[in-house]
Amino acid sequence: MWKNARMDRMTRNERPCWVLVGGRRRLGRALAEDLARDHDLVLTSSRPWEGEDWTMDLAKKTRIRTLHWDAERPEVASRMMADLAALDTAGAVISGAVIVAGTFPEAHFGTWTPEVLEATWRVNLAFPLLCAQALAPRLAEGACLQLLLDTSIHQPWLKRLPYSAAKGGLASVVPGLAQLLAPRVRVVGHALGAVLPAEGSDEALLTERTLLKRLGDPADLCRAVRYVADSPFLTGEILTLDGGRRWI
Ligand SMILES: NC(=O)c1ccc[n+]([C@@H]2O[C@H](COP(=O)([O-])OP(=O)(O)OC[C@H]3O[C@@H](n4cnc5c(N)ncnc54)[C@H](OP(=O)(O)O)[C@@H]3O)[C@@H](O)[C@H]2O)c1
Repeated sequence: MWKNARMDRMTRNERPCWVLVGGRRRLGRALAEDLARDHDLVLTSSRPWEGEDWTMDLAKKTRIRTLHWDAERPEVASRMMADLAALDTAGAVISGAVIVAGTFPEAHFGTWTPEVLEATWRVNLAFPLLCAQALAPRLAEGACLQLLLDTSIHQPWLKRLPYSAAKGGLASVVPGLAQLLAPRVRVVGHALGAVLPAEGSDEALLTERTLLKRLGDPADLCRAVRYVADSPFLTGEILTLDGGRRWI
């Protein structure tokens, strides 16, 4: 059963239940596979979930629910509300959420159009805000909401300024939401450097442009997400996890 408050769950030795928005591919999937060791999971994707065999393997270890939340759909906000209400009715107690979803489009200065900008900001800024708004009232007391940002909040990607602007917007949302949701819920962001670079990226250059002379590993993110969840005095902060790129 997915029931009752956190203490109840702990005394009954139940696993915490987390929502991963964008928990299907790349970093989202890596996080899901790591957390499945000791969490129940609700995973969202912009597409229907048929044919994702890896979730069946995960379901042997833990309780998984999959939802279809597409930032491009006008009804996405009401769909989130309805899905989260249904989870609540089913007795799910959500004690953590990570908003992973995003896109990483190149958009060179001189090629910007209202459509390009709106598309970038819809997925990378409006969607995380709508997710946070829908999730916040459903999060259990003591829960933590985590958002994936980008080290571009320190040094923007010049070929991806609209994307960098969206992540910069999220950087101000983190402390703002932390104030709005305290003391019940904590809010923390992760400003990630290159972990799984986009196709066609110059990995040698990305590696060179870190102090630690390496790319990140999904395990680096998993560790940071677990650290944040286990740090009850931490809120409103953005952890930069970029191998020191911001200092170069
Ligand atoms: N990878 C890196 O090295 C890196 C570096 C810095 C920051 N980040 C940030 O970390 C996060 C994850 O990165 P990633 O490389 O794993 O990203 P990704 O593969 O490009 O996608 C992230 C997730 O976004 C979801 N998504 C895409 N379009 C969507 C839409 N219209 N509606 C709802 N969800 C949508 C995708 O899910 P579906 O396709 O299943 O819908 C996917 O699970 C992103 O926010 C990214 O900005 C990543």
